[in-house]
Amino acid sequence: MGFPQQRPRRTRQSDVWRRMVRETHLTADSFIYPMFIVPGRGVRNAVKSMPGIFQLSVDEAVQHARSVVDAGVAAILVFAAPAHKDARASDAWNPAGLAAQAIAAIKSACPRLLVWADVCLCGATDHGHCGHVSETGVIENDTSVKTLAEVALNYARAGADAVAPSDMMDGRVRAIRELLDANQLQNTPIVAYAAKYASAFYGPFREAAESAPRSGDRRSYQMDPANAREALREVALDVEEGADLVMVKPAGPYLDVIRQVRDRVDVPVVAYQVSGEYSLIKAAAANGWIDERAAVLETLTGIRRAGADLIISYFAPEVVQWLRP
Ligand code: PBG
Repeated sequence: MGFPQQRPRRTRQSDVWRRMVRETHLTADSFIYPMFIVPGRGVRNAVKSMPGIFQLSVDEAVQHARSVVDAGVAAILVFAAPAHKDARASDAWNPAGLAAQAIAAIKSACPRLLVWADVCLCGATDHGHCGHVSETGVIENDTSVKTLAEVALNYARAGADAVAPSDMMDGRVRAIRELLDANQLQNTPIVAYAAKYASAFYGPFREAAESAPRSGDRRSYQMDPANAREALREVALDVEEGADLVMVKPAGPYLDVIRQVRDRVDVPVVAYQVSGEYSLIKAAAANGWIDERAAVLETLTGIRRAGADLIISYFAPEVVQWLRP
């Protein structure tokens, strides 16, 4: 039986009908908001390529965290851009380092806000790569994994509610789990950036996090955008190594990957709507070419419909306010 008996428009004829048959819902509790920490006091630098996003010193970050909690944000993701950068990424594993300070300060000001800590070396290395670089320029896996585990331990000790390794080295989830467990931090979850692609959409972030590689690119550790089966393998390995949540990143260009991952694993799936996805919408809206709010909600609904349980987005504070009843 087709048309004229079948008329799908019947359940689209009013707002009440449309709401009743809606399949996908955004909820405030599923958003995580990224924040960029820089040294100093009273610092609030606008990130030019990301209108509305600022690099904040620890004191300013505490104020901002209070305001996003008031807006209804449940979790933030902390990135630090320390002044001191060296080959060993020492600021990242130093208990007095910038990220550890920020985590502790935000947790003490906002105890109920979940503070996730991005675990990587790129913000703290002088060369800007996510792992250690050998004399011949190779990004070394196994030495990097050792350091990453120390970084995760440092952030967990500082009070992070979750550690989120974004480096894409092999085997780091297990190494982090073992080191946390050996240090009575068995209750700290790991959010693994499991399928992280070598994406052009990270451009604006690298300004915000001051983490662009000085030479070369990240294609020897981040994934080739052409590969979806490989993403499933990465995700399966991370789950097996002990990941409590797995992430697909970026989100918009990888909705098929999000769907396949959601169908394959039982842990929560996180999608990261990255800086470039944010900036594209902001730029088009600033020119009057699209309706910002509608475009934001449409992209986020698409990410959710694809299967993401949680979404990391720079739009989070606004979105959770829009979603308030
Ligand atoms: C660092 C890291 C990056 C992002 C999150 N963690 C950048 C990169 O890998 O170069 C990107 C986030 C964004 O673009 O919003 N390892």
